[in-house]
Amino acid sequence: MEKTLSIIKPDAVARNITGKVNDRLETVGLKIVAQKKLLLTKAQVEKFYEIHKDKAFYDSICEYMSSGPVVVQVLAGPDAVEVNRKAMGATNPANAEVGSIRRDFGESIERNVVHGSDSNENAVKEIAFFFSGIEIIE
Ligand code: TYD
Ligand code: MG
Repeated sequence: MEKTLSIIKPDAVARNITGKVNDRLETVGLKIVAQKKLLLTKAQVEKFYEIHKDKAFYDSICEYMSSGPVVVQVLAGPDAVEVNRKAMGATNPANAEVGSIRRDFGESIERNVVHGSDSNENAVKEIAFFFSGIEIIE
């Protein structure tokens, strides 16, 4: 079973739609094998999003991701990375496929409901950033 990291972002947690997001994930066959609610510090988000440190949106996304609680999850299933990215939809909700999480619930390119790992290699790193082995129950 492949695994991927998902984060339900502060906008979605604040709007009380974590259950709606989880329903979408489960409907496409992903299993939530770990899940916890965290309030991240800006320094923690800066480390998580280090890959984007030279981008114009870096400071804003780090500020936003530490502005309220998030729900971090490990999702498992066949082709979990790709299946999750498809369920999420494109980064900008306005361009995301109808029926995708971001299209249906996203407010803007920044407040776009969910993070999902973009490759197997990054999934392994991102899962290790938030979870220890004993927290993942397959
Ligand atoms: P990115 O990794 O490019 O997108 P994705 O989340 O689809 O993998 O960017 C990370 C996050 O940064 C993205 O979810 C929202 C934010 N972001 C902006 O605020 N503005 C932008 O122009 C881009 C590209 C991303
Ligand atoms: Mg990304």
